[in-house]
Amino acid sequence: EEYLNTEFIGRNIYYFDTVDSTNIKAKELAMEVEEGTVVIAEEQTKGKGRLGRDWLSPKGKGIWMSIVLKPQLPPSEVAKLTLIGAAAVSKALEEIGIESYIKWPNDIIVQGKKICGILTEMSCELNMINYVIMGIGINVNLENKDFSKELVDKATSLKEIIGHSVDRKKLLGAILNHFEDLYIPFKNAGDISKVINISKEKSILIGKKIRIIQGETERTGKALDIDEEGRLIVEYEDGTVDSIFSGEVSIRGL
Ligand code: BTN
Repeated sequence: EEYLNTEFIGRNIYYFDTVDSTNIKAKELAMEVEEGTVVIAEEQTKGKGRLGRDWLSPKGKGIWMSIVLKPQLPPSEVAKLTLIGAAAVSKALEEIGIESYIKWPNDIIVQGKKICGILTEMSCELNMINYVIMGIGINVNLENKDFSKELVDKATSLKEIIGHSVDRKKLLGAILNHFEDLYIPFKNAGDISKVINISKEKSILIGKKIRIIQGETERTGKALDIDEEGRLIVEYEDGTVDSIFSGEVSIRGL
C-alpha cells in the first residue's frame, strides 16, 4: 500500500494465504470485480505455468499474483498485454538495483536464469475481450534448495542473486506502478511505444540464434528485432524473414 502510486491497478487486492492458483481465483472473481483488481497468495498448491507446466510456488517466498484487466479490445491485442507485464517487471527490478533481461514474450531472466514467468489467460465473446487474467510469478526469496534438480540449472531467485531477502511489498508496489504507467496509454490509445522500447532495450534474444518451436515443428533462426506491434522478427536459416506473434511459439536461446 505505502508503495503504490496507482489509480486503479492494485487498488483492490484479494489476499490469500493458500490458493490452488491465483489465476483460477482471479477467473472466478473476474466478472464481478473492477479492473485492476489483484489476487495474490502466499502459496499456490497448483501454480500453473505455460504449456501445461506446474509453477513452483512455496509459501512466503515469491510474488504469486494475478491482475484482472478489462480492456475493450479484440482478443488479437492480448499478446501486447504480456509484453506490458514483462516490461513492468523488468523496470521494477531495475528500480531495486537488479539488471534483468526479457526473453520475449514472457520470461524475465537474471544472470542467465529464469526468475519470473507470466501466464496470460483471457475470456472473450463476439470477438471482444471480456477480461484478461495476467498471472505473474516471481521467485523472490526462494533458495536453491527449494528448486528441484531439473529446475535449479534453469531457474533462480532474487535472494540467490543478491545474497539477501528482498522486500516483496516494495517490489510488488514497483511492479504495479510500472504496469499502470505502461497499461494506461495502451488501453486508452493503443500506444505501446514505451513498452516496445523497453522490450528491445532489455531483450535477451535480439541478435542471437534461437530455436522456434511451433507445435511439432522446430526451426532455428536469428532474432532480428521486435516490431511496433510487439512481434519478434526472425530470420530463418534459409534467409526468409518472418514476424511471430507471442503466444504461438516457445523460444529457447541456443
Ligand atoms: C510460465 O513461465 O510458465 C508462466 C508462469 C506463471 C506463474 C504465475 S504465479 C501467479 C499466477 N498463478 C498461476 O497459477 N500462474 C501464474
